[in-house]
Amino acid sequence: MDKKLYIASDHAGFALKSKLCDFFKSLVDLGTNSEESVDYPDFAHKLTNEVLKDNSNLGILICGTGVGMSMAANRVKGIRAGLVSNNEIARLIRQHNNANVLVLPGRFMDEEEAIKSVKTLIETEFEDGTRERFISRFNDGKTEYSLLRSFEL
Ligand code: RB5
Repeated sequence: MDKKLYIASDHAGFALKSKLCDFFKSLVDLGTNSEESVDYPDFAHKLTNEVLKDNSNLGILICGTGVGMSMAANRVKGIRAGLVSNNEIARLIRQHNNANVLVLPGRFMDEEEAIKSVKTLIETEFEDGTRERFISRFNDGKTEYSLLRSFEL
């Protein structure tokens, strides 16, 4: 399967998403398609479903702060979403965390930094080694979460 790059946003990320889609013609746009208010988890889930169809797929999510999209995406097993405030962090979430979803804060990032961050997402590979072990620990079942369960939604 060909590597695909998906993008989705809520209403607060729509403006920046539109600019990125104008610049990167190969992005597969999963909506939203206006500034009318929507529930960002719907778009996080739509995008993560597509990203998980192939290991080489990548995604970009945008909401106002990037926080809601990050929370929603990282609850999906197999998704490693990184909230990025600049291009340097975009490079590090690929090299160190093998992120498969880049999350941008639509209300707090300008177009130029967003374009640089997406280019970096596309061009940067994961640096294997010990970092693979860190990532394999996310869902290894060794951590005792029982004290936290009562706070889950
Ligand atoms: C929408 O107003 C805003 O709350 C949302 O885009 C996001 O920032 C949530 O984390």
